[in-house]
Amino acid sequence: MTVTFSTVGIIGAGAMGRGIAQIAAQAGSTVLLMDNAPGAAERAREAVAAQWERLHEKGRLDAAQRDACVARLKVAEAIEGLRECDLVVEAVVENLEVKRSLFRSLEAIVPANAVLATNTSSLSVTAIAAGLQHPARFAGFHFFNPVPLMKVVEVVAGFKTDAEVCKRLSAFAAQMGHSAVSTQDTPGFIVNHAGRGYGTEALRIVGEGVTDFVTIDRILKDQCGFRLGPFELLDLTALDVSHPVMESIYRQYYEEPRFRPSVITAQRLAAGALGRKTGEGFYRYTDGTQAVPTEPAAPQMDVLPPVWISPRAARRAELIKLVHTLGAQVESGAAPTESALIIVAPLGFDVTTVAAVERLDATRTIGIDMLIDDAATKRRVLATNPATRVDMRQAAHALFARDGKAVSVIRDSGGFVTQRVVGTIVNIAADMCQQQVCTPADLETAVRLGLGYPQGPLAMGDLYGPTNMLEVLFNLQTVYGDPRYRPSPWLRRRGALGLSLLHEEERA
Ligand code: NAI
Repeated sequence: MTVTFSTVGIIGAGAMGRGIAQIAAQAGSTVLLMDNAPGAAERAREAVAAQWERLHEKGRLDAAQRDACVARLKVAEAIEGLRECDLVVEAVVENLEVKRSLFRSLEAIVPANAVLATNTSSLSVTAIAAGLQHPARFAGFHFFNPVPLMKVVEVVAGFKTDAEVCKRLSAFAAQMGHSAVSTQDTPGFIVNHAGRGYGTEALRIVGEGVTDFVTIDRILKDQCGFRLGPFELLDLTALDVSHPVMESIYRQYYEEPRFRPSVITAQRLAAGALGRKTGEGFYRYTDGTQAVPTEPAAPQMDVLPPVWISPRAARRAELIKLVHTLGAQVESGAAPTESALIIVAPLGFDVTTVAAVERLDATRTIGIDMLIDDAATKRRVLATNPATRVDMRQAAHALFARDGKAVSVIRDSGGFVTQRVVGTIVNIAADMCQQQVCTPADLETAVRLGLGYPQGPLAMGDLYGPTNMLEVLFNLQTVYGDPRYRPSPWLRRRGALGLSLLHEEERA
């Protein structure tokens, strides 16, 4: 198989340039690495060669492959050394003027048919290409860090990019062992756009005093299978990187309320509590080890009150069975008896509103999140309302922890934690489909590989039920009166049908 680009120039030999150089050489291209800092390209070449040596020691490259890779990776002292390249990928500082002037100089050096690409993560590809003589051959080629392990790359079509250029970059990505996803030149492209919901909504929940960040991390990992909680993730990426990204995407989308950043991260950034790398973020780190506060034990109660379950509870049949299995007496009357613990299970609505609308005694009313099948989760989440009595909270906590499953008790808010965060992720993804940022299939691939979510956001919506997602969002919009929960038209149309459903012409 011949490689799509036989000679690839890479400008900028930092973390990204090195990674791209490594996989391009592994795919069979001759790679010329260039950096304007003296000695940087040579140091990068040595670091990549050492990487191949490690792969050889692990048995992943044989000696001949290692030697061939090393022979294909060369250093260019200046951009004039890139005149033979049929592709040049730029990975220098994230600065529009620097990138623009670099490509203007390159145009005079490379052959007329060479493809030019930028690894920018936040600048407009169209804006970088403006002023070029041949913007049709220019595209975004956005990799993720660390490049050899993050096996997805966004191929970004600028306003004037030729479709053939994107096709060739996608073919080359496949030869490098990466999945290419195609995206329009919109802020955040696919991954950084789709990733807005997770952290932002979690920050809002903390900001409202519903619960603390450790509990949110526990809930999202145990209920939905996220590998890292949103606050663990913010600690890993560091706030000096993620807070500016939140602000930039919010501004670039003209203050779209779904992307509104949080004052919590602004303040922590100002304080220098950046995350893992400073030893203090949402968690503390000693020698790289995260200190996780211990979870308080569930109260034990031998005698539990009878339980009355609202007729409007989500998954009511399952809930009745669960309470019964846990050993409590389930009342069957139309109204609760005077001693009963009252359980409601709303989607999107808050426990207080439900108690008021259903004319229930709020002091004995507790909510449980039944969005997800209880058997499919490792944690149950209960919510009190401001009037809930302590004995009733303790009884509910003891009851739902009786079989040893973890239980979190949070304060009342519309939609609990999972409903709010998952609803927001699904809604943003649906809106990206609505705006045709990319195809639904590429959205799913980009999010699974780029963000490591357990499912793509549309599959996540289908798993938890598109109708449930719509109900959660409609009710959250009512509770908060905030347009950030307004369901995307795309979601509304597919709400009853399934989010992975494609139009006839898209199925081809
Ligand atoms: P880095 O700071 O590790 O490396 C940048 C390199 O470019 C440095 O070695 C610097 O000497 C060199 N350089 C700067 N200006 C130059 C010029 N005019 N000509 C030649 N060399 C020049 O940066 P990193 O992290 O590798 O990022 C590079 C680009 O990739 C940026 O545009 C960034 O936004 C993008 N990117 C970064 C990701 C990350 O996680 N670090 C992820 C995806 C994209």
